[in-house]
Amino acid sequence: MKKIQIITIFPDMFKEVLSTSIVGRAMKKEVVDIVVHDLRKWTSDNHKTVDERPFGGGAGMLMTYEPIFKAVNELDPKHESYRIFTSPRGKLLKQAYVRELSCKENLLIVCGHYEGVDQRVIDNLMDTEVSIGEYVLSGGEIPAMVIVDSVTRLLNESLGNPESLTHESFDEEKYIEYDQYTRPEVIETSNGEKLSVPEVLLSGNHANIENWRKESAEKNSKKYKEINK
Ligand code: ADE
Repeated sequence: MKKIQIITIFPDMFKEVLSTSIVGRAMKKEVVDIVVHDLRKWTSDNHKTVDERPFGGGAGMLMTYEPIFKAVNELDPKHESYRIFTSPRGKLLKQAYVRELSCKENLLIVCGHYEGVDQRVIDNLMDTEVSIGEYVLSGGEIPAMVIVDSVTRLLNESLGNPESLTHESFDEEKYIEYDQYTRPEVIETSNGEKLSVPEVLLSGNHANIENWRKESAEKNSKKYKEINK
């Protein structure tokens, strides 16, 4: 079983996410073991301080080295986990990178906070920095959840098909799906217009349906490229 450990100053944020949906199911099936740790457990002062002002001045606070050092050494003493620090300046998380992470034996994710972290954490304790997108969030908890969710659903998938994780020719755009419809066959919009499902999907002709889906996926891929240029 793959183990994912998370170090955070907001452990409560993870409760719902880890007990619901795909991640919750994967935990129950023991596909993955996810453990959340409170960074403040590794502080030694009364205030449980995890941040300080930056040397050289400037706005904001930085996460300090000591508690992260102690936590990481206790939770991963032999450095057997792939250690990730969440940060907007990290490697962008795309589906191919998710797949790469899902092949690692264990993961240890440290959630970044405040205005950043003492650079020695990155240089001496971490293997990589991961960003979930080109925008700045107030903390690394949501990015950690994004990593856990995207990796876990691949692990789940691989249960039924062990080869899927070693598949080399991963097409970056394969996850762009064709349009889908379900019941009812006809819906009425607020201005009285009737919208029905494409005929072919009701035809029972599997070759035609396959063809329609392929074309729909191609159209969606093209549109995706256009709107993300
Ligand atoms: N922390 C703040 N913003 C982030 C982002 N976009 N990705 C990962 N960690 C972050």
